[in-house]
Amino acid sequence: MLRRAKISAVSHYVPEKVLTNHDLEQMVDTNDEWIQTRTGIRERRILEDGKATSDMAAEAVRKLCEQRGIDPLEIDLIIVGTITPDMFFPSTGNLVQDKVGAKNAWSYDVAAACSGFLFALSSGAQFITSGMHKKVVVVGADKMSAIVNYKDRNTCVLFGDAAGAVLLEPDEEDTGIIDFMLHTDGHGSESLQMKAGGSLYPATLRTVANDWHFIYQDGKQVFKFAVQRMADVSVKILEKHNYTGDDLKLFVPHQANLRIIDAAVKRLGISNDKVMINIGNYGNTTAATIPLALSEAYQEGRLDKNDLVLFATFGGGFTWGSSLLKWAMPKP
Ligand code: UT7
Repeated sequence: MLRRAKISAVSHYVPEKVLTNHDLEQMVDTNDEWIQTRTGIRERRILEDGKATSDMAAEAVRKLCEQRGIDPLEIDLIIVGTITPDMFFPSTGNLVQDKVGAKNAWSYDVAAACSGFLFALSSGAQFITSGMHKKVVVVGADKMSAIVNYKDRNTCVLFGDAAGAVLLEPDEEDTGIIDFMLHTDGHGSESLQMKAGGSLYPATLRTVANDWHFIYQDGKQVFKFAVQRMADVSVKILEKHNYTGDDLKLFVPHQANLRIIDAAVKRLGISNDKVMINIGNYGNTTAATIPLALSEAYQEGRLDKNDLVLFATFGGGFTWGSSLLKWAMPKP
C-alpha cells in the first residue's frame, strides 16, 4: 500500500513593517470602512527593500527545521509556490536551498498564484507516497508589495507579504494527506495577471509607462468565480470521502476576501469556530495564506492529532482546489 505524506512541522515568517488601512488612506482614495466591509482586511505586512521572497521563505524553513529538530542537510527536496520569485532564474527554491544550507536537497518553484501552496503541496506529497524521498519541504511565499501598484486602489489595499512552510514525511499512523482536488481554467487568465516582464512583453519603456509590471485584477469577475469554485471544491472533496462539515475540526481557506470565505463556510454548513481566519492582520499574501493560517492555528492549539482538516483555495489563472488531511501532530 502507498504510504501517505503527513505534515510533521509547520512554520511561518511575516515581516515586521505594518501597513494599516489608515496608512493607505494617505496614499490613495480609500478608507478603512470600505476596506474592512468589502474585504475584512485591517492591516498587512510589507518586506523591506533589498529583501526578497527567498529571504522570507528561508526564515520559515529555518524555523521549520528548529521545530522538527532536524538539520537542513536532512532535507531531500524544497518546493516553493510563488509568483514573486526573486528573479526569473535561478528558481527561488534554489536560493532558499543555499540560504538555509540544505546542501543535499534539490529544489524547484511552482507558479499557481494564490493556489501555489496547494499545488506545491500536491507535488511534494507525490515524492513521499512514491517512496522517493523522506523529507520534503513545501513553501508558499510571496512579496506582493514588489508587484503591487500603490497608486491603484483596486489592488493595493488587498495584498501583503509573508511566507509559510510545512515539512512532509511518510506517515506511519493512518494520519496525513488523504486527497487533493486541483483545477485550472486558462480562460480566466486575463482577469488576474501581471502582463509584462515575461517573453510576451519583455520590459520596455512602453511596458513600464503602462504599469504592465504591476498586478491587474478585474475584482468583480474574480470574485464571482472564487465564491462558486472555492465552495464547490470544498464540499466535493468532503462528499467524495463520505464526510460532512460536522466531521471537520478546522477549515483553512485561502485568505483573499472575508466574503469569499463566508460563502464557502455557508455551503459547508459549519460554524465559525471551525474556520481559521487571519486575513484582518495580513491581507492576501497569495501563496503564503494557507501555510501562514495553518501555522498560526497550530500555535494557537486549535489542532490535535487525528483532527480532520480541509484546505481550499482560488487564485489567478484561474487556479483552485482543495485538500483533505488528518492532522498528524499533537498540540504544541
Ligand atoms: O486571491 C486571488 C483571487 N482574488 C480574489 O479572490 C479577489 C476577488 N475580488 C474581490 O475580493 C472583490 O471584488 C474586491 C475586494 C477586489 C472589490 O470588492 P467589490 O465589492 O467587488 O467592489 P467593486 O470592485 O465592485 O467596487 C465597488 C466600488 C466601485 O465604485 P463605483 O464604481 O461603485 O463608484 C470602486 O471604484 O468601490 C470602489 N472601490 C473602492 N473604494 C474605496 C474599489 N476599490 C476601492 C477602495 N476604496 N480601495
